[in-house]
Amino acid sequence: MTESDNLDELMACRLDEGRKVVAPCTIVIFGASGDLTARKLIPALYHLFLGKQLPSPVRIIGFARRDKTDESWREELRAGLDQFSRTKPVDEQVWREFSQTIHYLIGDFSDASAFVKLKEKLGTFGDERLENNLLFYLATPPSQFAEVVEHLHNARLLQRNESGFWQRLVVEKPFGHDLSSALKLNDELTRYAHEKQVFRIDHYLGKETVQNILMFRFSNAIFEELWNRRTIDHVQITVSEKLGVGNRGGYYEEAGAIRDMVQNHLLQVLALVAIEPPVTLEAEPIRDEKVKLLKSIRPILARDLDKQVVRGQYFAGMLDGQLRPGYRQETKVKLDSNVETYVALKLYIDNWRWSGVPFYLRTGKALPLSASEVRIQFRPAPHILFAAQCGTKLDANALTLRLQPDEGIYLRFNGKVPGTGVQVRPVRMNFNYDTEFGAYTPEAYERLLLDVIAGDATLFIRRDEVESAWQIVDSIRTGWGNKPLTNREFYSAGTWGPVAADDLLAQANHTWRNPTPPLKSHESETPPASPSHG
Ligand code: BG6
Repeated sequence: MTESDNLDELMACRLDEGRKVVAPCTIVIFGASGDLTARKLIPALYHLFLGKQLPSPVRIIGFARRDKTDESWREELRAGLDQFSRTKPVDEQVWREFSQTIHYLIGDFSDASAFVKLKEKLGTFGDERLENNLLFYLATPPSQFAEVVEHLHNARLLQRNESGFWQRLVVEKPFGHDLSSALKLNDELTRYAHEKQVFRIDHYLGKETVQNILMFRFSNAIFEELWNRRTIDHVQITVSEKLGVGNRGGYYEEAGAIRDMVQNHLLQVLALVAIEPPVTLEAEPIRDEKVKLLKSIRPILARDLDKQVVRGQYFAGMLDGQLRPGYRQETKVKLDSNVETYVALKLYIDNWRWSGVPFYLRTGKALPLSASEVRIQFRPAPHILFAAQCGTKLDANALTLRLQPDEGIYLRFNGKVPGTGVQVRPVRMNFNYDTEFGAYTPEAYERLLLDVIAGDATLFIRRDEVESAWQIVDSIRTGWGNKPLTNREFYSAGTWGPVAADDLLAQANHTWRNPTPPLKSHESETPPASPSHG
């Protein structure tokens, strides 16, 4: 046992005791030959199996059109594990046992008889729990959800009423491309299933650091006391990515940054940072609070669009010493595309706690660094004593939740520079996950899959959350209409976004605080005294 395991044992308080019952079940993956299965689902299930966290017995069935056998599919997945497993090498003995739970069924989603075959297959497992506790993972395009769900219903594989057994549907984003398509999709999913059987994945909620936002806020009185408009000046949420759109140009042309990232990941992080304390830490009270929060976001009126939203698109530029193509040169992207690869928003939450506090959100591709963080910028000290003499050199306190990479939390405050003179400058108090807990961090999908099996919906998006988020995004997209991007909205790959995004903050005398690369061990933890980009 390591020192940190010992500490966990002695000091940690379990909140999920008795909540995570994982009953034997079969996981059926529709669209199993796609990328997601080999990249994410099988590595996650393998690690759960390795950690003895999956129920026993368990079965996994891949359902797809391509011609494969159990054996050939297992071989393919084994090769995938070498590439995508978070631990290497793969444990051969464990893989041998795990692979025996994996089966493949050839079937077309539009063919009712394929679902009858699925039912027969489940019958061959000789265990009524494997036959009736069913997790259906719809790794298919959303346009096929309705069909799959209807066939499942007709084959009596999906029952609305629980009868000692359970059936659950797992879906991935995109949950529609606007409010009306989301309403339709949600209607299709709940036509034969109850909302509580539908688990919508936002993989950001599976990240440890994102889950920690609520723990951090509500188990630490000192910070929660400060978590309001009286002490907080503004909040910045940044999700930056170095990668461009690469080979996803076709998808991205339909989505853009606002649908791809803001509608889901960024608004979810914002909700967790800003919600009121839920009545309990269970799924419904937390989701109720998130919906309340999303509904309190002030709608962006057409006349305020330019003051509150900035979009951008990257053109060719240098990143890490290499020339990166511009968005319009990526494959499957139109040469005159106006799709945004960057978006920055200034949002207000019209409730008692947050009245008047700007929340700045931004995300973009081809930025200098891949990093996600939330920065809580406190109000400056009153202009007496130090502030009067130091002006902007005396930086206000800030708390940064580093979601990835270099996961941790740091608090920036001012301290006296040791010596005979009187000098003050910012210093940093740092909590780092790896140092405190060791390097073990499960992949988001491990936690999420286990939660579906246990029927815990806390980390999944409820129907009304999706719909409220679309309302916000739709009003922005309607405002953009077909307007082409202007010069001020383009940015060079490898820079922190368009100039217009700096102006968005400058209106209120704010500046973006760009994430910094993880510190190397020999580097000082002290940030530069300059107030900019700390
Ligand atoms: C996905 C988006 O949902 O999230 C991608 O479709 C994006 O465009 C990805 O790259 C980012 O996830 P992560 O976990 O790498 O921050």
